[in-house]
Amino acid sequence: MNAKISFRGVSCRFDVAGTGFQALDRVDLDIGDREFVTVVGPSGCGKSTLLNIAAGLVEPTAGQVLVDERPVAGPGPDRGVIFQQYALFPWLTVRQNVEFGLRLAKVGRAERRRRAEYFIGLVGLGEFADALPKTLSGGMRQRCAVARAYAVNPSILLMDEPFGALDALTRVQLQDQLLRTWRAEQRTVMFITHDVDEAVYLAGRVVVMAAWPGRIHQTIDVDLPTPRTEEVRLSPQFAAIRNRVWHAVYHQRPEEGLPK
Ligand SMILES: Nc1ncnc2c1ncn2[C@@H]1O[C@H](COP(=O)(O)OP(=O)(O)O)[C@@H](O)[C@H]1O
Ligand SMILES: [Mg+2]
Repeated sequence: MNAKISFRGVSCRFDVAGTGFQALDRVDLDIGDREFVTVVGPSGCGKSTLLNIAAGLVEPTAGQVLVDERPVAGPGPDRGVIFQQYALFPWLTVRQNVEFGLRLAKVGRAERRRRAEYFIGLVGLGEFADALPKTLSGGMRQRCAVARAYAVNPSILLMDEPFGALDALTRVQLQDQLLRTWRAEQRTVMFITHDVDEAVYLAGRVVVMAAWPGRIHQTIDVDLPTPRTEEVRLSPQFAAIRNRVWHAVYHQRPEEGLPK
């Protein structure tokens, strides 16, 4: 099977105060079509950099990322990106925010309306379509950001700690809703989180990164039944995988975690 996203020897150096800082060191990772992969790792290990390279927002210093076997040369409508800080336009309503990407994609007015309506409903914001972001809670704003990314119908979702700033209940609701959409619409998802429970609950496979330099430490298959439910979340199998991931993240050998 060909990978949907393929990181091939991806390295990234940043120039910090005149010295090179190796943010990523030769990352190889294949994400299959319709796979849901989560990425966890200590702060600063290069998770966002990796995602931004796939998004076409950061250029690697070596290696490349292929999407559908073509090298990434910049952002594109095939990849929807969702950041932690709901990047909504404050002067646009929920509906206008969701329609924004569709406007860029030259989708006609009626079809824009229809799609915006559908995705706003899907994330449970139906009654707030005409509200401005500042009048919404953090959770609602993030739902709007999710709806906006879904609306352009990208085959890939790149999500960088999208639920990190939310309260626990909203987070669980958005996780379940994301999984439902993923199953229904069959997208490929690369989802970054620092929450080990979230990483296991969502994924078919968890990629654990290590820092200094940023690299892949281990990948762990999540062999849990789908659809994921409360029952799965509370099962001993879940706890066992969670503990494995936790161990891989927080008990990396000390010399692996020291700045070089
Ligand atoms: N544009 C940049 N210039 C310099 N250093 C950067 C830049 N972007 C990220 N870094 C550094 O690269 C490392 C990895 O960053 P990042 O990918 O944001 O990590 P994570 O998302 O895992 O916390 C960090 O040490 C960060 O300070
Ligand atoms: Mg980050």
